[in-house]
Amino acid sequence: MSEARLRLSSVTRSFRTEAGELPVLRGADLELRAGEIVALVAPSGTGKSTLLHLAGLLESPDGGAVFIDGQDTSGMADKARTALRGKSIGFVYQFHHLLPEFTALENVVLPQMAIGTPRAKAEARAHELLASFGLKGREEHRPGRLSGGEQQRVAISRALANGPGLLLADEPTGNLDVGTSDLVFGELLAAVRNAGVAALIATHNPDLASRMDRVVTLREGRVVPA
Ligand SMILES: Nc1ncnc2c1ncn2[C@@H]1O[C@H](COP(=O)(O)OP(=O)(O)OP(=O)(O)O)[C@@H](O)[C@H]1O
Ligand SMILES: [Mg+2]
Repeated sequence: MSEARLRLSSVTRSFRTEAGELPVLRGADLELRAGEIVALVAPSGTGKSTLLHLAGLLESPDGGAVFIDGQDTSGMADKARTALRGKSIGFVYQFHHLLPEFTALENVVLPQMAIGTPRAKAEARAHELLASFGLKGREEHRPGRLSGGEQQRVAISRALANGPGLLLADEPTGNLDVGTSDLVFGELLAAVRNAGVAALIATHNPDLASRMDRVVTLREGRVVPA
């Protein structure tokens, strides 16, 4: 029996604002099994990005725990968290967040080298990934010389570069026109399914959500079926 790729257990998170304490997550529970693709659809401001950042170990909850591949990340030192994140989690943002000074290829190579993959092997993998997203011939382009759809394809390649068991995506095609969004989203889903990666994908688009295995939403700071 394989461990859940991601488990959130009674996760709480609030923010201090001028108006006082704003509780965003109030005991959120969620479990993603290997290969499971889940849509997170909830109104603006309900905590989707907050939840994804906690799941991605980019931030820590106030209470509760985040488990990655069965490991409780609560007490982990920064170095261990960073290592676990690099190896096990891919993150795709709404805006590509690629490094502007580096080529498409380098953007996909760097996270691999960060976990100790030799350059030649990392480059081969990056070529393969970029080609699978139709970007053959674009490897040496910097992000500024790519279209929005191409930038997101590079960002998805980067997220998958280390062969993570878990992919987290925060409105990954929210920045693209409808046609391109559909196309890139389809490619993302196919890649994730192909690789057997578990994915949690926030989207405002119900059509895109309906193409996933399960849809959840946020209600009063908790994760519930949509
Ligand atoms: N660093 C922060 N400091 C203060 N408040 C914050 C912070 N981050 C988020 N919030 C607040 O927490 C709430 C949830 O924000 P979050 O970004 O998670 O929502 P979201 O569901 O991703 O919304 P959207 O669909 O617009 O992206 C919002 O009210 C937001 O203003
Ligand atoms: Mg958000």
